[in-house]
Amino acid sequence: MITIKRLNADEAQERLTQLIDLLRDAVDSGASIGFMPPLLAGTAWEYWEKVIQDVEAGSRLLLAAEVNGEIAASVQLALEMRPNGIHRGEVQKLMVHRRYRQQGLGRLLMQTIEADARELGRKLLVLDTRQGDTADGLCRKLGYTEVGIIPNYALDADSKPRSTIFFYKQLTDD
Ligand SMILES: CC(C)(COP(=O)(O)OP(=O)(O)OC[C@H]1O[C@@H](n2cnc3c(N)ncnc32)[C@H](O)[C@@H]1OP(=O)(O)O)[C@@H](O)C(=O)NCCC(=O)NCCS
Repeated sequence: MITIKRLNADEAQERLTQLIDLLRDAVDSGASIGFMPPLLAGTAWEYWEKVIQDVEAGSRLLLAAEVNGEIAASVQLALEMRPNGIHRGEVQKLMVHRRYRQQGLGRLLMQTIEADARELGRKLLVLDTRQGDTADGLCRKLGYTEVGIIPNYALDADSKPRSTIFFYKQLTDD
């Protein structure tokens, strides 16, 4: 039983332990999402507390995919708050727990965050991902346009720099 939920700050706080576990699993699996493995629980906790503050402030959406009541995946939409950017958002931190990968959750979360962005009048989405990752292929399948590649943008777990690809998607009203 899969449910996609937009978590408010209180709900995210209640699910903090599961969110921490999800982030640690993604980082420890080698995902390029800002942290180096092994990710300490305290560092993950600090990260989620900032996310929850943003959710509370209305500058971020946090979606969670629950499978049988357990958070199996999540994605965020950072809502640009500067006056000339209120029509756009940045998709961030798409992550599916290793136990639940390749079952369609990543695609479902991306489709849901796009629908939510539309609902909020955010018609331009941007995101970036490590070149060659599964997410790279997923974004192309979902109709994102590659803007370009920055070589040596982010360090891998072995401390070697890897290229990052930047994408955008213009949402239409269809
Ligand atoms: C990227 C990620 C979110 C994909 O989630 P997922 O739930 O496994 O993906 P899905 O099952 O929805 O599959 C999406 C597409 O990717 C393909 N895919 C998924 N995993 C794949 C793999 N390991 N190798 C090749 N293709 C793969 C699927 O075939 C699917 O294509 P389709 O819809 O045309 O059939 C997941 O691998 C993950 O959490 N990775 C670590 C975190 C990360 O890198 N996040 C991206 C940050 S930008």
